[in-house]
Amino acid sequence: MKPRILVTREVFSEVLDFLNNHFDVTPNQTDTPMSPEALARALADKQGALTTLSERIDDALLAKCPQLKAVCNIAVGFNNIDLKACHARGVMATNTPGVLDDSTADFTWALILATARRVTEAEYYVRAGKWTGWKLKQFLGTDVHHATLGILGMGRVGQAVARRARGFDMTVLYHNTRRLSAEVEKSCHAAYVSLDDLLARSDILTVHTPYSPATHHLLGAAQIAKMKAGAILINAARGGVVDDAALIAALQQGKISGAGLDVFENEPALHPDFLKLANVVLTPHIASSSEATRRRMAMLAAENLVAALTTGKPPNLLRPPA
Ligand code: 8YV
Repeated sequence: MKPRILVTREVFSEVLDFLNNHFDVTPNQTDTPMSPEALARALADKQGALTTLSERIDDALLAKCPQLKAVCNIAVGFNNIDLKACHARGVMATNTPGVLDDSTADFTWALILATARRVTEAEYYVRAGKWTGWKLKQFLGTDVHHATLGILGMGRVGQAVARRARGFDMTVLYHNTRRLSAEVEKSCHAAYVSLDDLLARSDILTVHTPYSPATHHLLGAAQIAKMKAGAILINAARGGVVDDAALIAALQQGKISGAGLDVFENEPALHPDFLKLANVVLTPHIASSSEATRRRMAMLAAENLVAALTTGKPPNLLRPPA
């Protein structure tokens, strides 16, 4: 008998084909999001699950899924999974590191450029038929070239963002829980600074930390107040690292001149005031969403699940926090 697994959301057909070779698969190709109750019912008799950030894997759920052995997230982030609870109940959890760094970094740059040069605002204007002629002072933006880029969170994605800054002749500063080796700093052309220095000196500040209790509102009202006047804030990492209400207040006051946001607290619900602001670029958590990368992420998650349930040694096993 093949192990039974659940795929919680729609995936590419090659991923289902691969999983079908190994498992008795319950897919969800209609992509209907599952409530916690529906998820618990669907997982009650399963040994494995291919999940996304939309499903919360916590102790209450695991208690109802006694046969579960592996939860493989199609994401590098895993704040939807309680790793301690998984560990305590003998459930392996995995993520998809590495395969999405470049696509996420590319998209971060799309947000940086769109926000600084007011691309979406200008496009709305053109589409609304408001463009009647050229003006010297039309949609004056902020230069990206030669500006100071601050990177908060210098893991794989942060480093890929830093490397791309060279083409714009930028000064790159970063803050991270651990300072990088001199070799990596050199390859990124980035200088380590304290969080306060990063806030005070960055013209453009981009967030690349994971979300955890330690990074909840890492950029709250107090930190935003320390940012350079007129700076731009970018977040393509996780909602909750930035305090959305504090950011909105700073945008309304002009303290922050613009924000490019792919992630939000309580997404897909948005703080309604974001929609009233012209100086924000808002996208629906798509930073990793190039076709090739989403295919790689889903396949890597499937490979983790096969390895977990056949060898007990998935390549991207997550360890619980100490
Ligand atoms: C995913 C992401 O698309 O990998 C992550 O952590 O935020 C995105 O790349 C998303 O999490 C899907 O589960």
